[in-house]
Amino acid sequence: MLPHKQIEQRLQTAVRAVIPDADLASVLVRPCPDAKFGDYQTTSLMALAKPRKLNPRKVATDVLAKLDVKDVCESVDIAGAGFLNFRLKLSALTAALADAAAGKHLFFEPTSQPRTVVIDFSSPNVAKPMHVGHIRSTILGDSLARVLRLLGHRVVTDNHLGDWGTQFGMLLVGWKRELDPAALKADAIGEMERIYKKISAECKENPTTLEAARQELVKLQAGDAENLRIWHEMIALSQVQFDIIYGRLGVKFDFTLGESFYNPRLAAIVDELVAKGIARESEGALAVFFEDNPQLKDHPALIRKSDGGFNYTTTDLATLAHRLETWQPDEIIYVTDGRQQLHFQQIFAAFRKWHPEAVKAKLAHVWFGSILGEDGKPFKTRSGETVKLADLLDEAEERAFKVVSEKSGELPEAQRKEIARVVGLGAVKYADLLPNRQSDYVFSWDKMLALSGNTAPYLQYAYARIKSIFRKAEGTSNSDESRAGIQHPTSNIHLGQPEEIALAKQLLAFGLTLEAVAEEYRPNFLCNYLYDLAGHFTGFYENCPVLKAGEATRASRLLLCDLTARVLKQGLEVLGIEVVEQM
Ligand code: ARG
Repeated sequence: MLPHKQIEQRLQTAVRAVIPDADLASVLVRPCPDAKFGDYQTTSLMALAKPRKLNPRKVATDVLAKLDVKDVCESVDIAGAGFLNFRLKLSALTAALADAAAGKHLFFEPTSQPRTVVIDFSSPNVAKPMHVGHIRSTILGDSLARVLRLLGHRVVTDNHLGDWGTQFGMLLVGWKRELDPAALKADAIGEMERIYKKISAECKENPTTLEAARQELVKLQAGDAENLRIWHEMIALSQVQFDIIYGRLGVKFDFTLGESFYNPRLAAIVDELVAKGIARESEGALAVFFEDNPQLKDHPALIRKSDGGFNYTTTDLATLAHRLETWQPDEIIYVTDGRQQLHFQQIFAAFRKWHPEAVKAKLAHVWFGSILGEDGKPFKTRSGETVKLADLLDEAEERAFKVVSEKSGELPEAQRKEIARVVGLGAVKYADLLPNRQSDYVFSWDKMLALSGNTAPYLQYAYARIKSIFRKAEGTSNSDESRAGIQHPTSNIHLGQPEEIALAKQLLAFGLTLEAVAEEYRPNFLCNYLYDLAGHFTGFYENCPVLKAGEATRASRLLLCDLTARVLKQGLEVLGIEVVEQM
């Protein structure tokens, strides 16, 4: 078992002896925020003392008296208002590394309480190009899914495609009147976007076009065969383009149900909400009111428009019901931009009125800020248009190819192209995951592609550099046996130098970092962890000779190198970022 889990378990046992009715699941050990005071810390005792009106320092003293961690900890200290700080024993650290080297774990363990988590992410709209705004939802959602899966949770990913709505009235008018088949063949989404823009502009000026669009929509909703056929074709053509992008990004979905999937349920849901007195009429439309909710009392949620049409909210209520029925999740996560905050507050509140018994599922809106250009305004192309995702990814690979060719021009072109693909896509993803997701960030090619600083190329390079140590080590070994030992080092770990200890402790923190990412939906914790890991590795490598060390030390240090490479690779993988063995 990992040492912090061991400490946590023993702590829970001690707490039970002191406060028998304590909720032990809330008794947790976390990294100590300041290494001066220890390696791990618990703040849980204060939280237990407060509602019981106990003196927290007294609780800490009593718990400490019952706590036996001598085999794992150098010291345990009471600090502040009633924290406990734990300092790890070197032997426990060494043992954890030896277990990792033996393949027993990679500094994380599968959760003992697996949850079923549905993640709704990416969710672009049909007949429109995926643009730079969709990248955040796609990359963030994918990373959260990967982290949760790695920790042993059951994850269901669902791409909630925008495949229904008033835009199809205009698209149908455009399709029937304006479509250029050759253009559709060459670039389907571009052509659909063109006809949509044209008709939507016309609708603003010309009431006849507006009426025509309305009628096409009504026909579609009524199941008109031709309109349905065209609508299906628009979805299929869009899906082809989405799949190309998802393929490049390495993103997969378990389900792509889309908004239209829920159409058959909407009328009954609205009827039920009215019958139960949850929704009522308001200016010809139907809405759910939240008088009892101070945040939402001025924001009723419309569920049927005055023309009888259902909307985004109605669909999301049906979607939520479907997910709870189908997958019985413990948690549902929605990843969208911050402008949808009110929408999700309304959905969650309305749903709880409708199904109070479903309250036990955790519903989370994981929202994010915008991507800005270097001028601080929303990120646009030079001609002022939104940036298409496909173009952005092309440019990332092209720019990375230049960087790679400058640095490693001697490698064959095909290999440089592959490195550029991995580095370019990695750079874009990492730049998106690194900032606190709720803040806006400035999109900068130069920054994200830099080989130094907190970037994907820096981490990918750190990985490749460790791999090159192994290539060198193999080159300097003269027997098959010693080569095998380098590939699969098994010898004892010895942590003597401070830089070795610092690196080992950082490796050990991988699991707690992953758990923090899953708990707070923040992959940026992992980015910063990996950056620090690479920094600790540099400190180690500069101060502790590896290949020139004596046999035992060399083997131990090669193990540290190997574990660092494995954690870097695994960490990047759950950020959705690949590595190459040589750069
Ligand atoms: N299609 C929406 C958009 O592009 C995002 C959908 C998010 N998911 C949901 N269940 N509402 O803004």
